[in-house]
Amino acid sequence: MRLDDRLEALLARMTLEEKIGQLGIFADMLRPFAADVNPEMNELNAGELREQIRAGRVGAVFNGVGAVQGRESQRIAVEESRLGIPLLMGADVIHGMRTVFPIPLGEAASFEPELAERTARAAAIEATASGLHWTFAPTLDIARDQRWGRVAEAAGEDVVLGNAFAAARVRGFQGSDLTANDSMLATPKHFAGYGAVMGGLDYNSVEMSEGTLRDVHLPPFKAALDAGALTVMSAFNDINGVPASAHDGLLTGLLRGEWGFKGFVVSDYTADFELVAHGFAGDEREATKLSFTAGVDMSMQSGLYAAHLPDLVASGEVPMDVIDQGVRRVLAVKQAIGLFDNPYRSLDPEVEAALDPQALHFDLARDAARRSIVLLKNDDDLLPLRKSGQKLALIGPYARDRDNIEGCWTLFGDTRLHVNLEDGLRAALEDGDALDVVDGSGMEDAIDGGIDAAVEAARKADVVLLAIGEPQGYSGEAQSRTRIVVPAAQQALADAVAATGTPVVVLLRHGRALALHGAVRDAQAILATWFLGTATGTAVADVLFGDYNPSARLPVSFPRDSGQQPLYYNRQRTGRPELPTMSEFKSRWREMPHSALYPFGHGLSYTRFVYGDVELSSDGASADTLDWDGTLTVSVTLRNDGSRFGEEVVQLYIHDRVGSRVRPIRELKDFRKVALAPGEHTTVSFTLRRDQLAFTTRSGAFAAEPGLFDVWIAPDSEAGTAAQFTLARA
Ligand code: GLC
Repeated sequence: MRLDDRLEALLARMTLEEKIGQLGIFADMLRPFAADVNPEMNELNAGELREQIRAGRVGAVFNGVGAVQGRESQRIAVEESRLGIPLLMGADVIHGMRTVFPIPLGEAASFEPELAERTARAAAIEATASGLHWTFAPTLDIARDQRWGRVAEAAGEDVVLGNAFAAARVRGFQGSDLTANDSMLATPKHFAGYGAVMGGLDYNSVEMSEGTLRDVHLPPFKAALDAGALTVMSAFNDINGVPASAHDGLLTGLLRGEWGFKGFVVSDYTADFELVAHGFAGDEREATKLSFTAGVDMSMQSGLYAAHLPDLVASGEVPMDVIDQGVRRVLAVKQAIGLFDNPYRSLDPEVEAALDPQALHFDLARDAARRSIVLLKNDDDLLPLRKSGQKLALIGPYARDRDNIEGCWTLFGDTRLHVNLEDGLRAALEDGDALDVVDGSGMEDAIDGGIDAAVEAARKADVVLLAIGEPQGYSGEAQSRTRIVVPAAQQALADAVAATGTPVVVLLRHGRALALHGAVRDAQAILATWFLGTATGTAVADVLFGDYNPSARLPVSFPRDSGQQPLYYNRQRTGRPELPTMSEFKSRWREMPHSALYPFGHGLSYTRFVYGDVELSSDGASADTLDWDGTLTVSVTLRNDGSRFGEEVVQLYIHDRVGSRVRPIRELKDFRKVALAPGEHTTVSFTLRRDQLAFTTRSGAFAAEPGLFDVWIAPDSEAGTAAQFTLARA
């Protein structure tokens, strides 16, 4: 992006120290929260930060909140520093601000990108009212190993779903006018490949082919940039031995060279400093040089750029025009969001004081939450329950809990707004007193007499609602788990309650796919409820009692056991697939089938959808060939054969039979949520084009290859009967 003449003139007046100042972002110790959420590392205390701002040595601050104090910081920057360059004010507003929405993984289960756009917009309205105009979101890491705690923060295992939610969240955060007071700059992160850390161990190395990087992990970033994102955050991990925050091939070659990105790159928290720990830089000076010259324009929190760039410029190792390039990028983004014309944008204490999150966004939080709940199992149509005439026992550590409602990365949630399970269920029941509530166990530890009390309540009840799952602290950054299971104390509770014979509905709380065992797996009904945020109790009640017919589908595969990780649906076939015909010498586990317990795309409804056969056509006539530059229409009739209104996520999958690099057994290429009243039917059609079949071929070119394909329109990644078509040669 070009600077206007005014800013070019400003750049010409800047000293080297002032230029380098624009290349640094520091925890905003001048405002609440920053001290709570960031590990100590070279942080400037409030007084030091204020002086650095006054001296023009700070380009941005983060994770502080509040319009009054933010306005004062901005005043110092604009009115007391020599050149008056306004600060960028950012924070981790990942899935809501004061109103907390479902974790992004849960929201992805809605398969409704437009819903994510709405919740991102709501988050931006609340965040910009509190003195922020930049968020370090959306997280775009494709995650196929559920042992990784940060799977919670993005859209799961599939690239097409990830692309859709990436663009939607950028649009939501930024709105239609970047200079508007309620527009918040988005930051696609973590660039790149972070979701593929080996073993699901956070911050671990990533080893992957160029093809997998380009076909699976990079596309959501391209989708986000195409949607208008102007900043990117570089990742902690190394990729094939080169740390992402010093990877010139990615940060300059691809981001700038291939994709033409004009914004700026900010490092993740001290990621430049960590090049020394990686063993990629011998010292902090070298780390500074490697990170900055690779393409990280702004250094987060480490202070390395301020400490070492002056000397690197003096020695000629970093040319001044490279410094100017970085500064231009930062100034251009500040210009793009209107900061030079309106530095006090998003810093109006009256707007902050007047904002009523409850009135504004509770209904959206409720709708987003209930649209994120996946009905995994519903034996004998146990659900929905009646609101009267049934004795219900709500049992488990999350029954009354308020501290594990939000999920990870909710730094600013207003817990006063939250509705926990007990409150939501009591409010929904005709007789709220008909609900017995028993903790039964702690989240991690047994409670004296807890199981006995739970068993007694279960014996008296017609149905048990078992509120179990992961504590919030098990999810998010640096929360990798070797066994992705319900904690043992809760498993014991589940086993004891199930032994009473009272039907059990599991209300599962989780930030990742879990391996369900014993009475949890064998319960009559299971709702995957993620961390649903502010409206948790209300949304769960809506689904439990049928006021909302669950329509979400799994964005990640639920395994049979932790040992299967990484497990994802769009895997390669191998030369020895687990086929009944094969001898034991096949790609299999001794202990269980090589498949998911609940596959990607799975989810049940309270009604019944019936799919017709897949029909292929071109120009209205039946066809089984996709011309090289043509289109193929893939259709199916869908009927609601049940007694309730419902929404079905119709999924389009293909399988490229033969490729110059082996192809996945299934690949999602499109999806659509279709609403049908009882007895209603419709034709659902998708248009396939060659570019949707393209991949990074053996030669390295991104291209489709002629040949035979399977195609499904199905309710999940294992269901359906394939039709076949041929992609004709050019
Ligand atoms: C963290 C996270 C990143 C976040 C940043 C600032 O370590 O990796 O997602 O935006 O630091 O809080």
